[in-house]
Amino acid sequence: MNKFITFEGIDGCGKTTQINLLSKYLDSKKQDNVIVREPGGTKISEKIRAILLDKGNDINSYTETLLFLSSRSQLVNEIIKKNIEQNKFVLCDRFTDSTLAYQGYGRGLNIQLLNDLNNFATQNISPDLTFVLDINLSESNKRINKRNIDRMEQSGKEFLNKVKIGYQKISNIDKDRYIFIDCCGKDIDSIHFSIVKSINERYKIN
Ligand code: TYD
Repeated sequence: MNKFITFEGIDGCGKTTQINLLSKYLDSKKQDNVIVREPGGTKISEKIRAILLDKGNDINSYTETLLFLSSRSQLVNEIIKKNIEQNKFVLCDRFTDSTLAYQGYGRGLNIQLLNDLNNFATQNISPDLTFVLDINLSESNKRINKRNIDRMEQSGKEFLNKVKIGYQKISNIDKDRYIFIDCCGKDIDSIHFSIVKSINERYKIN
């Protein structure tokens, strides 16, 4: 069993906040951990990220998918693989499920094909545990609008709703790997508490 944990959800769901809190918690328990994010996390992947999120770029769904996968492949090879091998906790802000949810359910590309492409890009490295943080669209919209929106975030409410439904479907496939957290009306601390509880149980931390 590896300690590769991914965090997923629609834009503005609070993943980044929860990852940072979990990392601090793991530090307090003397558990080595690293945080990475997608798209990005390496020099090349950050360059690809800039292309993907630039509102000035008109990118078709196929090119978009291949760029996300290229960024992922580089991140897996440079960072994720070796940290897993060193038995560290790897906390990843988005991973393969983002491609399934956004490019598959959102853009309408073939899910089975995307699964195969994900496996190719990751060399079959798969998360041990995935937290899916679910929020409603109006909450997402409120949070996104507080920041400077990027190319993906300007795809609209209908697109985001498809992504949200996609995450629900993905989470239902494997109840052992996916932990779906309904974050509506919950505060940051209570979400953190439920994440910590799952981590403690699964990795026998006390
Ligand atoms: P980011 O600013 O990192 O968003 P967030 O803070 O919500 O994670 O931007 C990443 C965007 O890229 C986000 O809208 C989700 C999207 N995305 C995909 O469409 N496919 C993917 O495979 C990945 C990794 C991200």
